[in-house]
Amino acid sequence: MSKKIEIPEHIAIVMDGNGRWAKDRGLARTAGHEAGEKVLFDLVEAAIGFGVKELSAYAFSTENWKRTPEEVKFLMGYSRDVLRRRRDRLNEMGVKIQWIGRPQRLWKSVISELEEAQELTRKNKTLTLNMCVNYGGRSELVDATTALARDVKRGKLKPDAITEKTIEKYLYSPKMRDVDLFLRSSGEQRTSNFLPWQSVYAEFVFMDVLWPDMTPKQLWKAIEIYSERDRRFGKA
Ligand code: IPE
Ligand code: IPE
Ligand code: MG
Repeated sequence: MSKKIEIPEHIAIVMDGNGRWAKDRGLARTAGHEAGEKVLFDLVEAAIGFGVKELSAYAFSTENWKRTPEEVKFLMGYSRDVLRRRRDRLNEMGVKIQWIGRPQRLWKSVISELEEAQELTRKNKTLTLNMCVNYGGRSELVDATTALARDVKRGKLKPDAITEKTIEKYLYSPKMRDVDLFLRSSGEQRTSNFLPWQSVYAEFVFMDVLWPDMTPKQLWKAIEIYSERDRRFGKA
């Protein structure tokens, strides 16, 4: 008899390897980003079918500003256009879109597109899709600390009363579940500043597949690997 598969509630995905995929084909890096778009939405659809409740997609990190101005410009315009193209279909599927990230430096048009998608889908319950755009784990903790310190200064909060729950309230998405499965494509084995607070007890799966080559089948494989893990959370 086969063992029952445990479905992770929250999957965090580092969508990596677009540039290498394009290079292998003699194409511009941007062609890799274009090829990666369909993959994300195929995986969202598959995740819904598997019963996943929350998916966080790392689309642009606070470190990605270090890329060439051309690539940054492409990625900004592209995030905006992708949301516009996909939001109605996502809405039909019951996906709640949430932007996770820092407003500073982010293009205004990207922010307004994110906000529109959020507003359109806010009542949906099938799956929450966290679009992590201009996200950095350290920035998230800096921003949380700043807001928290302000509240202490205003007398709204006592330093001795700060708990883990308090910190969570100051994160970009206080309701975000802890990450169960942290998945990265492209063979790199690092987190690159993605969801450190939320991933302390995540199971890490690194797949040697470039993002544009990822398929729902690969996602299922990652879930099977996850399901084999023995999560103890510190217990004996
Ligand atoms: C991930 O692919 C997409 C973003 C970071 C926006 P990369 O662009 O990092 O592709 P590689 O890692 O250079 O192959
Ligand atoms: C992480 O990938 C960021 C995103 C996928 C958006 P990177 O390609 O930027 O990470 P490093 O530079 O390999 O660590
Ligand atoms: Mg990369």
